[in-house]
Amino acid sequence: MTKLIGVIMAAGWGKRMKSKTPKVLHTLMGKPLIEFPLGTLKQLNIDSIFVILGSLTEPLKERLGERCTYIIQDPPLGTGDALKKILPYLKNNQETDVLVVPGDAPFINTRLLEEFGYSHQNSGCQASILTTIMENPYGYGRIIRDENSSLVRIIEESDLTSSQRNIQEVNASVYIFQASALLKYLPQLENQNQQGEYYLTDIFEKMKLDNLGIFVFCQEKNPEMLMGINSRKDLVKANRLLKEKIIEGFLESGVTIIDPESTYIEENVSIEQDVIIYPFSFLMGNTVIKSDAIIGPGALIKNSVIGNGCKIYYSEIEEATLEQGVKVGPFSHLRSGTYVKRGAKIGNYAELKNSVIGENTKVSHVSYLGDSTVGEGVNIGAGTIVCNYDGEKKHPTVIEDEVFVGSNSTLIAPLRIGKGAYIAGGSVINIDVPPEALALGRERQVIKEGWVKKRKERRKNRG
Ligand code: UD1
Ligand code: CA
Repeated sequence: MTKLIGVIMAAGWGKRMKSKTPKVLHTLMGKPLIEFPLGTLKQLNIDSIFVILGSLTEPLKERLGERCTYIIQDPPLGTGDALKKILPYLKNNQETDVLVVPGDAPFINTRLLEEFGYSHQNSGCQASILTTIMENPYGYGRIIRDENSSLVRIIEESDLTSSQRNIQEVNASVYIFQASALLKYLPQLENQNQQGEYYLTDIFEKMKLDNLGIFVFCQEKNPEMLMGINSRKDLVKANRLLKEKIIEGFLESGVTIIDPESTYIEENVSIEQDVIIYPFSFLMGNTVIKSDAIIGPGALIKNSVIGNGCKIYYSEIEEATLEQGVKVGPFSHLRSGTYVKRGAKIGNYAELKNSVIGENTKVSHVSYLGDSTVGEGVNIGAGTIVCNYDGEKKHPTVIEDEVFVGSNSTLIAPLRIGKGAYIAGGSVINIDVPPEALALGRERQVIKEGWVKKRKERRKNRG
């Protein structure tokens, strides 16, 4: 078997995005564009992968992980210049095949690349190019063929004549080259074109001058698989295609999605059978939704586990775990480190941060609990606030089982409230409360009988 290495060209800025962020860092359903081709190449049986990155994409190196060699192309002078950067690695591997893919074509899959690879090997050519037929080929390099349908050259959009604009066969920017061909022909590229760039596509003309055959593999069935993302409009289109595919997968696996149009679900989310998702719900990251849960309307859930039969209305949940039968919302915010045990009820208008809420406990109205451990069957009255932060440090609060916290109480951490204790409404509590005790932390009420009448009389006498 011929040795095969993969190259992802991802150093271009992507001027057409009109962005201060390099193109391959823009995201598609939550994932940076570059991760798509990288994931695909990693699934192939490839000896090594080279990723060509631009200067600002360099921090990506750590994120994209092992098994790859990263090469910096700065400044980006065109796809031909990008590929030149790997030449030093090819010098001792002249027989190797080099599979080249662009960093901005997220839907190319392994099956297509495998088919392309086999066809290339069978062709016996030193270079192969993957093409497709686009209904609207605008923006792509067009494939010019001669009367025998052999490739003549590839012409970029900005260099086309008006009759060439109608050609619908386009270059997908996916190629296989024998290393020796790259070593010989890449240094011959020039930048005499509209954009002043070194076009990789010009390499074929150079090869043809030496009468080398070029194999053209046209994949007509699914042109969308080869779409490149060049503009924000393309990003919208790709996002829609991927979103539809993800949603279709969940519908097929037994999830009800009331309004797919207004529902956003990322690829790594897992959803069990008989979950119902209402409109305006966003499920992101590594979220898991267990069976029979009702999500939305209006839920934003990220990197969280939502237990069986939970109900989440108009709320945001991030890095939290909910056991079965928990109700959240409307209008609650569960922040990182929140763990809610079975049957508990959170919100209207509650905020939880780094807290454990026990079984069947109620935090029903307008409360904030941070760094708190709350036991079973506790009632947190409306407007309860845990003061966990003293301006410098965070402090813990423990509220044991069956405690009753009266409304509008302020619990100043560090604090422990013993099992079954009662906190009188409107209290400010800063001393530990023993089990079964009643704690009152407020001024005693004073009644002044007949005060209004006396006040009126005083005023009359003055006036
Ligand atoms: C390229 C092809 C075009 C093809 C289209 C398919 C060339 C000259 N044109 O055009 O024929 O139809 O892809 O999508 O190759 N890159 C670098 N360094 C650079 C320039 C680009 O690494 O100096 C990377 C980009 O990050 C991108 C890829 O190469 O991932 C393609 O570059 P892009 O500018 O998008 O090329 P297109 O104009 O789309
Ligand atoms: Ca492109």
